[in-house]
Amino acid sequence: MIPQEFIQSLLGRVDIVDVVDRYVKLKKAGANFSACCPFHNEKTPSFTVSPSKQFYHCFGCGAHGNAIGFLMEYSGLAYPEAIRALAETVGMPVPESRGRPDSAGAAEAPGLAARMMDALAYYRAELKKSKAAIDYLKGRGLSGEVAARYGLGFAPDGWQNLEAAYGDYATGPLKDTGLVIDSEAEGERKSRRYDRFRNRVMFPILDARGNVIGFGGRVIGEGEPKYLNSPETPLFEKGRELYGLYQARRAIRDANQVLVVEGYMDVVALAQHGVANAVATLGTATTPFHLAKLLKLADNVVFCFDGDNAGRKAAWRALEVGLPVLTDGKVVSFLFLPPEDDPDTFVRREGKKGFLKAVEGAKPISQFLLAELASNVDMGTEEGRARFLAQARPLVVQIEAPALATMVRRRLAELARLAPEEIEGLIPSKFPERRGRMAPAARAVRKSASFESKLLAR
Ligand code: UTP
Ligand code: MN
Repeated sequence: MIPQEFIQSLLGRVDIVDVVDRYVKLKKAGANFSACCPFHNEKTPSFTVSPSKQFYHCFGCGAHGNAIGFLMEYSGLAYPEAIRALAETVGMPVPESRGRPDSAGAAEAPGLAARMMDALAYYRAELKKSKAAIDYLKGRGLSGEVAARYGLGFAPDGWQNLEAAYGDYATGPLKDTGLVIDSEAEGERKSRRYDRFRNRVMFPILDARGNVIGFGGRVIGEGEPKYLNSPETPLFEKGRELYGLYQARRAIRDANQVLVVEGYMDVVALAQHGVANAVATLGTATTPFHLAKLLKLADNVVFCFDGDNAGRKAAWRALEVGLPVLTDGKVVSFLFLPPEDDPDTFVRREGKKGFLKAVEGAKPISQFLLAELASNVDMGTEEGRARFLAQARPLVVQIEAPALATMVRRRLAELARLAPEEIEGLIPSKFPERRGRMAPAARAVRKSASFESKLLAR
């Protein structure tokens, strides 16, 4: 017997688009994804997958269901087997409960997802009551409308405020919410439970279906740490989630572009100014999962990092993640704001128009790569240019997109003042422009599975 609660959190964690795409190559079609139906024979696609509803449906044969149903139908698995297979793909251990789920006790314990919603409702209600928190958000230029759209809330000062949200605060299974901390102080026989978030503005983090999976909390004014985030829980894995994606989906699709920023406030401030296609990483570096997810939603990904040193570092990291994921037709670029700015301060000063203009000037990944490498050496000397090539080599060989790889090599040759065929000898290409002395092994065969699907299949 697998607890219903687990099945719900599993469905919250997986994205049906990723699940189906592992077996049936999906194409973006408006809000949904489509393919030729794997459950009946057809030449034109009538099989659709909805990321917002987390359902698949075939208009041809009527097959439909959720991610678990898909695995059952496609792989012929029984219900519990399909759940286990799905759980394995996201590394969630499957708990087995003995007896019936409605037996004594179990029925009263609400699911984790429901508990997160309870906390959200509590924090939102508290924001309405707190003049200090409201003034803080107003002072940062946010309207009530945008605060509501992002579900902003407030955790008041105090150690056990969540007692108001959870009737079983002292004894209930609250650990997996990540919202309480159980301290086992020395000498104490019973652990003391207290709220993780105190006196902070709360930013709920939602999954693709709009379920609350975690929170970020900001101190009002000065204080350390400035932001506190939910720990990793069965619902929340930082390296996979992006703040604001739920709210931004539609705008991302409409613009065919997604902006990746660093902070919660950046996302919310941009939305306040009518730039609704922004998401943020959650205090972590950009991961391949992030980028693969975003490149599925839009052809253009623009990283808008802070103008400071940390921002440049984060951008370089994103570049390293981006090079192998790129395909021709997808554009990953980088916007560097003035050193004293982040997207929040920039859009507040320059407005939507000024910000979008800056986005237009974002540097494509290839330019950023070459400019950054060239700036590290003295390009005026042979030795400097040799070092430039040595540093470029391990990065350039990772570019899998044939056209882009070719163009980057050509530019590399120009900058190093070499002939294109001389570069070929130094940095062998998988896609040689002409056949020559190249060893056959260097002419890699393109694999059929995309990098994203390989990655997401792990
Ligand atoms: P920033 O320090 O750039 O903050 O952190 P910010 O978004 O500009 O915040 P404001 O404008 O001062 O309110 C960017 C992101 O890094 C993570 C958070 O996710 C934050 O949004 N962070 C930052 C933390 O997790 N903890 C911290 O103490 C600071
Ligand atoms: Mn900021």
